Amino acid sequence: MNETPQRAIWGSKLGFLLAAIGSAVGLGNIWRFSYMAFEYGGGAFLVPYGCALLLAGIPLMILEYTLGHSEKGSSPLAFSRVSPPWEWAGWWMPTVALYGIMLYYAVIISWCINYFFFSFTLAWGADPQNFFFHSFLQLTDSPSELGKIRIPIASSTFLVWFICWIICYREVNHGIEKACSFFMPILFLLTLILVGWTVTLDGAGDAISNFYLKADWNKIDIFRRFNDPEVWSVWIAAFGQIFFTLSLGFGIMITFASYLPKKTDIVGNALWTSIINCIYSFIAGFAVFGIVGFMAHAKGVAFSEVIKGGPQLAFVVYPEAIRQLPFGQSLFGAMFFLVLIFAGLSSGMSLIEAFTCSITDKFPWSRKSVVSVICLTGFFGSLVFTTQSGMYLLDITDHFITNYGLLTGGIFECYVVGWLLKAHNARNHINNTGGVRLYILWDVCIRYFTPAVLMIMMMQSFLGELRQNYGNYSTDALILFGVDWLLLTIVASVVFTFYPWKREKLKKRHHVSEDHLLT
Ligand code: PHE
Repeated sequence: MNETPQRAIWGSKLGFLLAAIGSAVGLGNIWRFSYMAFEYGGGAFLVPYGCALLLAGIPLMILEYTLGHSEKGSSPLAFSRVSPPWEWAGWWMPTVALYGIMLYYAVIISWCINYFFFSFTLAWGADPQNFFFHSFLQLTDSPSELGKIRIPIASSTFLVWFICWIICYREVNHGIEKACSFFMPILFLLTLILVGWTVTLDGAGDAISNFYLKADWNKIDIFRRFNDPEVWSVWIAAFGQIFFTLSLGFGIMITFASYLPKKTDIVGNALWTSIINCIYSFIAGFAVFGIVGFMAHAKGVAFSEVIKGGPQLAFVVYPEAIRQLPFGQSLFGAMFFLVLIFAGLSSGMSLIEAFTCSITDKFPWSRKSVVSVICLTGFFGSLVFTTQSGMYLLDITDHFITNYGLLTGGIFECYVVGWLLKAHNARNHINNTGGVRLYILWDVCIRYFTPAVLMIMMMQSFLGELRQNYGNYSTDALILFGVDWLLLTIVASVVFTFYPWKREKLKKRHHVSEDHLLT
């Protein structure tokens, strides 16, 4: 068999940062953040959000970068180098990422592609809600009624996988790095144009100052409302959003960091990735609040009646607002959906990369064939979400994956790095690699604080599950598409673990020895 090929290295620091930011900036920055800000105290939400960023988001981002960089491997390889019994957990994260998230993420991007084309004729007409649910999705009455595959959705889902295949087929420095160097500047530019355009609309300024920037401190005041569970749920939601928005807990940032050169600035990179991602969310919020404010003003209804989060924001509220625009409707619509497509694709590629790298690290197969098989099976897997009940299934899978998969992934990482590799060893590695130095507070975060918060969040979700079926779906549907999906990914991870490593791959690395750390 041929020699293990040399591991690719990012072409430049900027290229790496754009790819990592590309993964982090996704649909969630646009339709999840704004809605949360509205629900949880407007400007005041920035306090729990900022605390979550500092106390959990950035420490975990540093942790993922450190693990990938010090062990030079995807999450299964990195985990098994630290502690072989934990290899399965290293497999689980990218498996959930690909076969949990990417399967439906591709379908949401495909909706955006359809809507991009609909923008040119404003095909959603006078009733975008009816158009989205009935004409476009042709949604059935319940998740158990699958219905037929929707051909327009399935064909554009094929296109999404095809684009990802073309990009991921090549090594990261030629594929993802080049793609993100193209996508991200356009994404930022289009977002700025949209924000600039939106804030000039009637009613936009009022909505932004009254609902986005105005702070309702009472909503977040844990000191005065210590015994009120509602205020705690705001804080927990802020932490949840930080993990989701930074793409943590799936092994993506571990994989990306494994392609970094020996000398690099781990802490600086983590700060740039996290902060730019959050600034993007904040800026995108102006576009969302502005357009909803404009629409409320144009229709003479209350802001709170029209604001929505998630797919409803993009596919119902935005089309309705676009219809009300005095001029440039198609251009505005096309730009908005293009922003979603680019944000989605750059996140999607990272989900594919995390799994691809895990496979090529362990098995003697070429990247090209692995990516081809992944994209082909991925497309067939996505088909279930392109059926008439796709939206229900997607909602259920997303709920379980983000509430359990992502959180568990984060807890595993904290344990493996904080306790098995030992936080101070990891910190020494960081401080010896160059760039911004890290202090002991980081050890405290990843050994105690971050895993504790993750566990509390998971407990809260679990208790919620027992109280009421998520989204009032039937228990059967929740088990089939939520719980079973998670169990299946665990089984797959264990199967991957049983295949033996090539001996030299697993050679124990000495995390703090001088020669390993310095060029
Ligand atoms: N960070 C992305 C967002 O905000 C979501 C995502 C999560 C993408 C995990 C990839 C992996 O939308």
